[in-house]
Amino acid sequence: MKKILVTRKLLRSCEEKAQGIFKATFNLNDELYSQKKLIEMSKGCDGILSALTDKLDANTINQLPDSIKIISNFAVGFGNIDLEAAKKRGITVTNTPDVLTDATAEIGVLLILGACRRASEGIEKAREGGWVWSADLLIGKQLTGTRLGILGMGRIGQKIAKVAKSLGMIIHYHNRSKLSEEKEQGAVYHKTLKDLLSVSDVLSICCPASKETIDMINKDTIEYLPKGAVVTNVARGDIVEDEAMIDALNRRKVYAVGLDVYKNEPNLNTGYLKHPSAFILPHLGSATKETRTAMANLAVDNLEEFFNTGNCKNKVN
Ligand code: DGY
Repeated sequence: MKKILVTRKLLRSCEEKAQGIFKATFNLNDELYSQKKLIEMSKGCDGILSALTDKLDANTINQLPDSIKIISNFAVGFGNIDLEAAKKRGITVTNTPDVLTDATAEIGVLLILGACRRASEGIEKAREGGWVWSADLLIGKQLTGTRLGILGMGRIGQKIAKVAKSLGMIIHYHNRSKLSEEKEQGAVYHKTLKDLLSVSDVLSICCPASKETIDMINKDTIEYLPKGAVVTNVARGDIVEDEAMIDALNRRKVYAVGLDVYKNEPNLNTGYLKHPSAFILPHLGSATKETRTAMANLAVDNLEEFFNTGNCKNKVN
């Protein structure tokens, strides 16, 4: 029986599934392992079922025992793992695509709604009490007829586009390549980031974090947006330069932001915490019972497929 280390607590049914297939070490208290502890705990194991909170950088990967042949990441994103370093050590890295598309797109739409319709301020006012209805109380931005720019038209971007279209938004997108007409569903393709940003009344960031996309939304590119644009991010915090975004909020170049992901989670830039126009969530993209169950089961299946065949369809390196 193969031995695996599961670095974070999973839903019970998923831990039971893993236990039925592997000799698994679980993290009973859901403690955040330091890199040192993770290396220590993985001794004698054949694989690791990791989470996005595990920083598997080159230094950590280089110290993993030789017995580790696979890191099965419990996420579609894998920015927490140095893929090259893993490859050099002959370690396969896998992810959990598809199963979290719907749940993450739901949060993507919530960010658009929350930021445009001033949900943070509304919730605070309702909780404080003493408010009186008035014709100009917390006037927000209506989505109907507004242009939505999707940066990264993968599975999640396409699902957000579908829902946003049903709300009357006009969809534009930028991607490495143009999609087929069937996948575009009437969305307008822009070859460059600049072209997309210049028509984005609302921007939805849906692309993975990579060397090419880190800090892609920065001091210079923010200026391409129309004045008073709304920026939302359901992908990864690394794509946005926080200081530049907070400055843009302060000078009303950006009307509001809707964020679920941050650089250096959970220690997000305090500028967002204080800002009334920031609608912020604690990385809830895939947080539904159905989706977290499907993700964990897929992470277990990826391990099983790899140990049985030496390969895995969800290999990313
Ligand atoms: C992912 O899988 O990358 C999501 O961000 C997890 O919530």
